[in-house]
Amino acid sequence: MPLTAVIEARGLSKVFHTTVRRPGFAGALRSLVSPERVAKVAVQDVDFRVGRGELLALLGPNGAGKSTTIKMLTGILTPTSGEAVVAGVVPHRDRERNAHNIGAVFGQRTQLWWDLPARESFSILRDIYGVPEDQYRARIDEFDGLLELSEFWDTRVRHLSLGQRVRCDLAASLLHDPPVVFLDEPTIGMDVVVKEQVRRFLRHQVEERDRTVLLTTHDMTEVARLAERVVLINHGRIVLDGPLQEIRRRFGGTWQVRATLADPADVEEIERIEQRGEPALLPGTTGIGVLRREGPRVVFGPVGDDAPTVHEALKAVIARFQVTDLALEENDLEDVMRAAYLSDVPAQGATEEFAVQAASQGG
Ligand SMILES: Nc1ncnc2c1ncn2[C@@H]1O[C@H](COP(=O)(O)OP(=O)(O)OP(=O)(O)O)[C@@H](O)[C@H]1O
Ligand SMILES: [Mg+2]
Repeated sequence: MPLTAVIEARGLSKVFHTTVRRPGFAGALRSLVSPERVAKVAVQDVDFRVGRGELLALLGPNGAGKSTTIKMLTGILTPTSGEAVVAGVVPHRDRERNAHNIGAVFGQRTQLWWDLPARESFSILRDIYGVPEDQYRARIDEFDGLLELSEFWDTRVRHLSLGQRVRCDLAASLLHDPPVVFLDEPTIGMDVVVKEQVRRFLRHQVEERDRTVLLTTHDMTEVARLAERVVLINHGRIVLDGPLQEIRRRFGGTWQVRATLADPADVEEIERIEQRGEPALLPGTTGIGVLRREGPRVVFGPVGDDAPTVHEALKAVIARFQVTDLALEENDLEDVMRAAYLSDVPAQGATEEFAVQAASQGG
């Protein structure tokens, strides 16, 4: 991980307090006289760091706490406890300075003026952020080149299609050249061609412009294409922070490498491994097992908690055996994520206790 963190969350928590409405007329009256307040722990004790020029995907099921985390990092929400630091600024304490350092896009909501053509919104933002004219022109040209905006940027925003509008939103969020960008579901509702265009745009922003990007998405293809590192959040808490392959390793373990071995000596070795009985582990590996064999055709699969990914297994098999034929199969990333989302049901007690503490502190 890069040495200096541009985005840092330390023990970040958010508890929402809402009043419950009791059913019926009598209930409504009672709610009016003595409102019942409940605490909802949306984010609990979240810690992570994102380095300069890094793109991190914050993943999790609906209601996991992703948007709430981003809202705390952009200064829209004040944390109940813990601290956020973004480019050296505590966002909710210094919203204005933070606004100069960050760009933000929130899925379906636009930051453009609904009744104006996108291009006019751009010039308003230019004035708000005090972007010098020559830089403004250069950026507009750059964004137009990457996102093809000029064919529709003179149309009123309310008449733009969703994909067109979000492309304008992306450009708008970067007009003031912020080093940090938060994107909460930036490709929601986009067609596959535009999605790919936006992914290229984001890669360009990270690789060429050295921006730090934190994004959320429910599109697993996007995650696979864009993010080297992911933070998985569920029930407001971090379940995993690491490379995408780590999620596969933990939650989507099943894969198969099918190899046809060229050398009879290798086939004999596999036979000996099989004879040793379960688990028929390939010696010297952390968990590559021999699942089946038919003559020289061998099927390898993961064994145990420490099994490698399919790619590591493939490398190991090629390094070790001479093969005439090779095929691999692994679980779809969507299946892996489903398993990851369902597997984490944290101890209710801890969350309730936290809510009670937070409520008693009035936070
Ligand atoms: N202003 C609020 N008042 C009360 N509860 C809230 C508020 N905002 C969010 N929540 C609750 O906090 C939890 C986390 O919501 P959040 O919007 O962060 O989820 P998310 O991970 O972004 O989900 P999604 O993938 O659906 O966008 C949810 O249970 C939500 O209902
Ligand atoms: Mg959300």
